[in-house]
Amino acid sequence: MTRESISFDPVAAIYDQTRALPPSVTDAVVRAIVERCGRGLYLELGAGTGRIGMPIVEMGIRYTGVDISEAMLAAFRQKLRFGDREADLIRADAARLPLPDASFDTVLVVHVLHLVPDARQVLREGMRVLRRPGIVALGRNDDTAGSVTNQMRGRWREILADLGSPSRRDGLSAYEGAIQFLEGMGAEVRQDVVAEWTREVKPRELLDLYRNRVVSESWPVPDEVLSESVRKLEREAEREYGDLDRHIETPASFCLATARLD
Ligand SMILES: C[S@@+](CC[C@H](N)C(=O)[O-])C[C@H]1O[C@@H](n2cnc3c(N)ncnc32)[C@H](O)[C@@H]1O
Repeated sequence: MTRESISFDPVAAIYDQTRALPPSVTDAVVRAIVERCGRGLYLELGAGTGRIGMPIVEMGIRYTGVDISEAMLAAFRQKLRFGDREADLIRADAARLPLPDASFDTVLVVHVLHLVPDARQVLREGMRVLRRPGIVALGRNDDTAGSVTNQMRGRWREILADLGSPSRRDGLSAYEGAIQFLEGMGAEVRQDVVAEWTREVKPRELLDLYRNRVVSESWPVPDEVLSESVRKLEREAEREYGDLDRHIETPASFCLATARLD
């Protein structure tokens, strides 16, 4: 089966509500990006609603964002209008950019490479439009190993696999694969955890992310398999955490890798 890119059209209206970073984390992340990448021309692939892009634009940096989801870009455009800011937002596939060679100083990719059929092709396109010297920056904010969110997601994936519905590549392996690929292309890569914080989660809220198809991994799963997987996970979570409405503090972090290409 040929895999297709995963557009976030279905969750554009709730993306910011369900994926928001605390404001101090956004500040730390954007500061780290600009410290490492400078203030030249930015291109973000899979820009979404501007969770990271909008604060970059607000720093007065010239920014172009590309996404396959018109609904995500519409939410980003609304923020630009509201903030009286300008940026170029283009609906396009990051694997086939309608942009000239060597036209940006930084190519930024946050939480996108696990959603595309060929992450290397996206990176090759990013490198094609990058001027030299230039930087490809990769970010991800999957929850830290050992966090409640990671434990539950890991178990849910195992349950899905047992039910015959294996999940796609996860964010961490896509990120690590991209770093290896960029190193193989001769890039000098620097990796840092640029923000660490504590999240408060309720097991029931995490179950609802799967049950209500908020997380993109749930989208290809057939209805019956999804219901069965969440039922099983819920029983396990009750045994593990007791009260599903209990608030649990759990660690989270944002990792940034910058690959310098000369
Ligand atoms: C998890 S969201 C991340 C958005 C943003 N980078 C952020 O950190 O908030 C992934 C985004 O990648 C977009 N996307 C998926 N495949 C794509 C592709 N082939 N080309 C461009 N955008 C793509 C989705 O539509 C979605 O908006």
